[in-house]
Amino acid sequence: MNDTPPRFSEPVDPPPAGTPWTVLRLLRWSTQYLEAKEIPGVRIDVEHLLAHALELRRLDLYLHFDRPLTEGELEVFKPLLLERAERRPLQYILGRAAFRELELVVDERVLIPRPETEELVEAVLSRTREWGREALEAVDIGTGSGAIALSLAQEGPFRRVTATDRSLDALQVARENAMRHGLEGRVRFLEGDLYEALPPEERVDVVVSNPPYVSRGEMRGLPPEIRLWEPHLALEAGEDGFTVLHRLVDGASGVLRPGGILALEIGSGQAQAIVERIRSREGWEAPVVLRDLSGRDRIILATRRRVEEAVGGSHGDTSGIERRTD
Ligand SMILES: C[S@@+](CC[C@H](N)C(=O)[O-])C[C@H]1O[C@@H](n2cnc3c(N)ncnc32)[C@H](O)[C@@H]1O
Repeated sequence: MNDTPPRFSEPVDPPPAGTPWTVLRLLRWSTQYLEAKEIPGVRIDVEHLLAHALELRRLDLYLHFDRPLTEGELEVFKPLLLERAERRPLQYILGRAAFRELELVVDERVLIPRPETEELVEAVLSRTREWGREALEAVDIGTGSGAIALSLAQEGPFRRVTATDRSLDALQVARENAMRHGLEGRVRFLEGDLYEALPPEERVDVVVSNPPYVSRGEMRGLPPEIRLWEPHLALEAGEDGFTVLHRLVDGASGVLRPGGILALEIGSGQAQAIVERIRSREGWEAPVVLRDLSGRDRIILATRRRVEEAVGGSHGDTSGIERRTD
């Protein structure tokens, strides 16, 4: 192993004829190759790709900088690098994404789960744990890879979690992930348009969703990794980005038990409109808006009022918008 840290930014040539590539030379050359195509943040991606090709852990590359590569190993690595040069996201190339405690299979049929969605799950878990009850029921609308539904089933006090999606392709991925993690017995998969996927009389304690919320205009400005590779159905929600969110809010009271919660991930800039929509409807307590780690409003939690509270006439949502600021 080298004593000096590698200088990835220094230009490096391919090895002289007859000399094999080493791990370090290939890492540096590949990083520069992708940087020349103006792909941001590629250094870690290259490490992941090479580790994947060599069946090593990423950090083990640092112990093998001088290791020569065989022709066979280069043949495995090259197409991975070329895919990344085409802006295919790292997670699709590797076929997996980390989400909370789970490693999920992902491909172009599903959105790559994001860190802010881990916070949505955390918000639901901390609220439902406060209730001190077991055997709750939740529905995850638009489950994609199953990230939210499977995490709730794995970590929370849920008897059953229902995972729905309009995309059968996505549900297949989610079901595969459930089986990989031994959760298929507690997660049910239903195809359909938002709440229509649920049996008509069904009532649950939690409705959670990370729905599509990107406007048509915003779509055009997204990085190619998202715009060209992730499923359009998972991202765009009409001209203003609100079409799915509005329907989720409007239909939630029909499926939530009294005292149950609606937990939504939203785009930054959408909180006020959603809060106002909930406040303008009967039967809800004042919604809470939670911020992500970068301080942007990203999660809405709204509690369905219990019947006796509604009868008691405490309709005035006087407490305003609560925000978590930590
Ligand atoms: C932003 S992705 C979220 C995926 C996953 N829950 C996550 O957080 O990683 C939105 C998901 O909603 C699904 N979807 C879009 N419109 C829908 C609709 N009208 N009814 C049900 N699912 C829908 C998409 O297929 C996609 O899987």
